[in-house]
Amino acid sequence: MRSSAWHLRRLLVTGGTGYLGQELIRQASECGFTVAATYYSHLPPKRMTASWFPLDIRNAPAVKATFAAFRPDVVIHTAFCQNPPGLWPVTVLGTSNVAQAARSVNAHLIQISSDVIFDGENKVPYLESAAPCPITAYGEAKAEAERIVRAVHPEVAIVRTSLIYGFEPPDRHTQFALQIADGQSNARLFHDEYRCPIFVKDLAAALLEVVQSSYKGLLNIAGNECLSRYEFGQLLAKVYGRDPTAIKGGWSHESPEPRPRNCALDIQLAQQLLQTPLRGVREVLAERL
Ligand SMILES: NC(=O)c1ccc[n+]([C@@H]2O[C@H](COP(=O)([O-])OP(=O)(O)OC[C@H]3O[C@@H](n4cnc5c(N)ncnc54)[C@H](OP(=O)(O)O)[C@@H]3O)[C@@H](O)[C@H]2O)c1
Repeated sequence: MRSSAWHLRRLLVTGGTGYLGQELIRQASECGFTVAATYYSHLPPKRMTASWFPLDIRNAPAVKATFAAFRPDVVIHTAFCQNPPGLWPVTVLGTSNVAQAARSVNAHLIQISSDVIFDGENKVPYLESAAPCPITAYGEAKAEAERIVRAVHPEVAIVRTSLIYGFEPPDRHTQFALQIADGQSNARLFHDEYRCPIFVKDLAAALLEVVQSSYKGLLNIAGNECLSRYEFGQLLAKVYGRDPTAIKGGWSHESPEPRPRNCALDIQLAQQLLQTPLRGVREVLAERL
């Protein structure tokens, strides 16, 4: 992506203790950003160089005070909560607080959204122009968060992404697959649930490119390989030395809850704009092996 904003040097990461947040801090520090990050229930890892702020994003005055204290040029908002009771207060109202605070200090805002804002019934990968049509409570909350940030902070960049995975430490999708492979869980991974998983290092690098460009609007950033959760689980099991056939497959209609089936994202725009390769799972795992 052509850089038009190398002056954006003060970066605030909400959810700095999270999986994506930690990788963002690592890479942003290496790139020379002055980095601040927030934490909520987990203490910041000692090895990470950032100015740390304890923050509950549900607390609007506290969010405003934190932003006023650090005065970021740009904010990457990763903090969220996937399940009730925190789902709506954190993921929706907390995001509104973050967007308002970012606007109050004239900071560019990057909101991390999700492929599950879609119902998964498209026959082709979802473009940036696709309208949200969530079928899960989490998808509804992320879609509402998108709507709010656009209303509050019209210059926001909203990045829709897919399953985030990585190695050190393994992400929660990998941990889940390994639990199944090790017989610690009877869960099944669905053959008909398609995603475009993205390696956390690729996602963080791509997001820092978005930061440098001051991109505004929607952007899909996901891996370039669409595969089922079952295939993904098998590949992860294999790379960790487990028997891939120990992963049990199932079908999404067996789930008691509705599940979006095919949330493949069209990443052509990101591939045109960004230099970071958005590698597929097999490519990343082959390099690790
Ligand atoms: N992981 C995926 O596969 C995936 C897929 C698509 C989209 N996304 C999106 O990517 C983003 C990052 O995901 P992730 O997996 O990296 O997240 P994560 O590891 O679950 O981390 C969540 C972060 O949110 C913080 N947080 C929770 N409640 C908070 C509150 N009330 N106030 C302030 N901070 C709070 C947590 O802080 P503490 O740990 O300190 O409590 C943590 O830093 C999210 O917006 C998510 O919707 C993720």
